[in-house]
Amino acid sequence: MKVGVLISGRGSNLRSLIAATREPGFPAEIVIVISNKPDAPGLEVARAAGIPTQVVNHKDYPTREAFDAELDAALRRAGIELICSAGFMRILSDGFVESWRDRQLNIHPSLLPAFKGLRVHERVLEAGCRITGCTVHFVRAAMDEGPIVAQVAVPVLEGDTPDMLADRVLEAEHKLYPLALKLVASGRARVVNERVEISGGSGAMQAPL
Ligand code: GAR
Repeated sequence: MKVGVLISGRGSNLRSLIAATREPGFPAEIVIVISNKPDAPGLEVARAAGIPTQVVNHKDYPTREAFDAELDAALRRAGIELICSAGFMRILSDGFVESWRDRQLNIHPSLLPAFKGLRVHERVLEAGCRITGCTVHFVRAAMDEGPIVAQVAVPVLEGDTPDMLADRVLEAEHKLYPLALKLVASGRARVVNERVEISGGSGAMQAPL
């Protein structure tokens, strides 16, 4: 399955996806990496791995729809069958999301549906949660919503700062996204009535305690 990865920044999840997809027998291949930011460090991660990159800078487009149309065209030109958003920090229009329905994944650094949006780790700590985690889900029009493919729980430890927690969750993300992509690309995870059905196992991972 041909995958396009969307990024806006560092690209550490991209790096983990590249490594996983290069394992023998992995059912997906990353054929393009697109960033909405020209200076995203993740672009260099892709280049170093020999993967074609493209910048679709949102600042070059007068409207969200115009930006989305160019993004869509770039993905279709590359023959993409599945989009993986990995730290892609743009809200996509309903039309774009609908045309890639059940063909776009996103990773979010919380146990959705809790803590959608930004400043996730600060808010987890403010709320006094003892457990947090990360989620890979199919994208829907509402931000950080959509059928859940896989999640992993991560403990909140005494004395955690938002950065410490973010680092621990990120380690879990790097294991989770390749697992979720494998489930979807192999056809084991499918959306049925807005829930993901997984054949032959589950999308849960053990918390790395
Ligand atoms: C990751 O923690 C990802 O879950 C988060 O941005 C970070 C990107 O890191 N995404 C969101 O918050 C989306 N709502 P990376 O660029 O190193 O992969």
